[in-house]
This record gives sequence, structure tokens and C-alpha cells, in this order.
Amino acid sequence: MYEGLLKQYKEYLPITDKTPMISLAEGNTPLIPLHSLSKELGINLYGKYEGLNPTGSFKDRGMVMAVAKAVEEGAKAIVCASTGNTSAAAAAYATRAGVKAYVVIPDGKIAMGKLAQAIIYGADIISIPGNFDEALKTVRNIAETEAVALVNSVNPYRLEGQKTAAFEVCEQLGKAPDVLAIPVGNAGNISAYWKGFKEWHDIKGTLLPRMHGFEAEGAAAIVKGEVIEQPETIATAIRIGNPASWKLAEAARDESKGHIDSVTDEEILNAYRKVAAQDGVFVEPGSAASLAGVIQHVKNGKIKPGETVVTVFTGNGLKDPDTAINATDVKISKMSDLEEMRLYLRNGVSEL
Ligand code: F0G
Repeated sequence: MYEGLLKQYKEYLPITDKTPMISLAEGNTPLIPLHSLSKELGINLYGKYEGLNPTGSFKDRGMVMAVAKAVEEGAKAIVCASTGNTSAAAAAYATRAGVKAYVVIPDGKIAMGKLAQAIIYGADIISIPGNFDEALKTVRNIAETEAVALVNSVNPYRLEGQKTAAFEVCEQLGKAPDVLAIPVGNAGNISAYWKGFKEWHDIKGTLLPRMHGFEAEGAAAIVKGEVIEQPETIATAIRIGNPASWKLAEAARDESKGHIDSVTDEEILNAYRKVAAQDGVFVEPGSAASLAGVIQHVKNGKIKPGETVVTVFTGNGLKDPDTAINATDVKISKMSDLEEMRLYLRNGVSEL
């Protein structure tokens, strides 16, 4: 039976005899071939569907490790700032480990599904009038004086857990991809994947991919080379103007001969709709940023025809139903009459 990341990758993680082996069976997520988009773009495109983790995002990988280490070190409470997914994962793993979670969120700027998760898992939820960057600054400050373990990705155990996704990609493909495309918000995940690919290269001899990271244009601090004071994007998960792992992300880009570029909200929404409608995968808007980037890079030649590309679908589309409904022309035909429905279907099917 699969028992989660701490057991699966024990020898590659900072686990001691005293580390509690907590698990919600996170990780082991599918690598889905995207047939329709592959054909359209002329590449071999796969989606690493992290939305199938127990709380619906990749954050579970890092959180299981960070919470286990916090408990090992005697913490009774954890704290994080979040655009939503980190808080959901922190809340779930705190419950699992029997500690308290305090989560700090930007007021009104998190998707409804994510808020529902923090509520139902029983976290103590604090909302602030500022954005994620301000929330992160606050919790970093608080964790210095109070007896709470900080579980944002500035906690190195988070990146340790998250690097396992790169191991899985290599195992599932039987090799490293040519390109790993990934959304960039606080820049922890791109740094974690790169660490994972380098370690797998050292241990198993797999090659190294080029890392292609994508920020939302209204929050593109790394691309613009400056802090964005008021980041804005429809992809609230990556609405971050001062990424904590900025330097690590630039190192991942440069060492891998990759790129960090930006995509507009329009490109994000286009990719978001396309992957659901053409390949049957529902991801959250923040996750569609990297697919939008792949489309952009095929057009501008940064991705070559025939290359093997893995795009990371960091979170599940169900997290943010409001955006799904608002981003499409919703067509629901109201019908209560059986004959009317029969005719409707007959006409529809005859046109196929
Ligand atoms: N995709 C999703 C769905 C996310 O929730 C995040 C970050 C990212 C991508 C970007 O990853 O920050 O490692 O570069 N969400 C954080 C949160 C900030 O609070 O849930 P990153």
C-alpha cells in the first residue's frame, strides 16, 4: 500500500528516528499525457496533476515534511501566510499531527474552495487588509517571538518535501523531460523542482530539464527585476509581488539554461479553458499560468517542435468555482418537458 511521501522517499529526505511519519497518502500524482494539446502544439506535453493531492494542491508535499519536523522539534502550533493552498494544507496536516494551525490570508483575495478547506479542517483563520507579501512579513515577524513554527516555503523542509515531485516525474517518464514548465508565485516550487532534478541526476543519472517558470504579468517581480507593491492577477494563488525564493528561482533558471517569463490574465484564462475543454483536465487559474507559458514558448521558439514538456498543474480547478463560472459563457438549458428534451437531444446528436 502506498503510504505517502515520507515513507516513499525516506532516504532522500531529512528524516530521523524521531520524525513522526505522518501522512495523508500525499504525492504519487498522475502524469497525464495531454493528447489534444500535444497535437496542436507539436510537442509531447504532459500535465503533472498535483490537484489530486489530498488537499488538492502540491502544497501537501512540502507541508507533510514541514509539519513532521515542527512536531519533531516540539512545536505545538504552526503558522503560515497564504493565498489559500498553503493554508489548506497547513490546516489538514496540523489536524493530522495534533497541533494547532494559525493561517493568515489576504482579505477577500482567496478562492472560496480554499477558504472552505481551512474552515472545515479547523484552522484558526486570521485575515489582514494587505496582500500575501504583507501577510508573509507579518508571520515571519511573529514566528521570531512566539512559540509557533513557521511553515511557509522559507522553511527549508517545505522545499525538501516538494522536490519529490521532480523524482516522480523522472520515474513516470523514465527520464527527465526536456522542459519543466511551472507557475511562479513565491518561487518556492520552481526552486524545489530544480533541487529534485539535480538530486535525481546525481543518484540515478537522469538528465536535467530546462526550467521554464511563469509569473502572472501583474505580479511579475522576477521578470521585471523589481518588487511589485500592488500585485494583481485573476490567478490569486500567484498574486505575489515580492517572492521569498527570488534568488533560488533565478539560480534554477540560469543553471538549467531556462527562462522566467510572464503571461497575461487573458493568456491564463485561455489556457485554463483549453485544457479543460480539450484534454479534460480542470486546473485552477494559477496552475494554467504554466500552460499559457508553454503555448507562448512554442510560438516564440523557446520550446522546440517534438520536445518533451511537463507542465505542473499545481492545484485543482474545484478550488475556485467562481472563476470557472465567470470565465466561460455558461449555457444551461432549462427544460421540464420530456418530449422537448428528446427533440433537443435528437437535433443535437444529428449534428455530430
Ligand atoms: N500554483 C498554485 C495553485 C499555488 O497555490 C501557488 C502558491 C503557486 C502555484 C506558486 O508556487 O509560491 O512556490 O512559486 N501558493 C502559495 C499559497 C503562495 O499560499 O498557497 P510558489
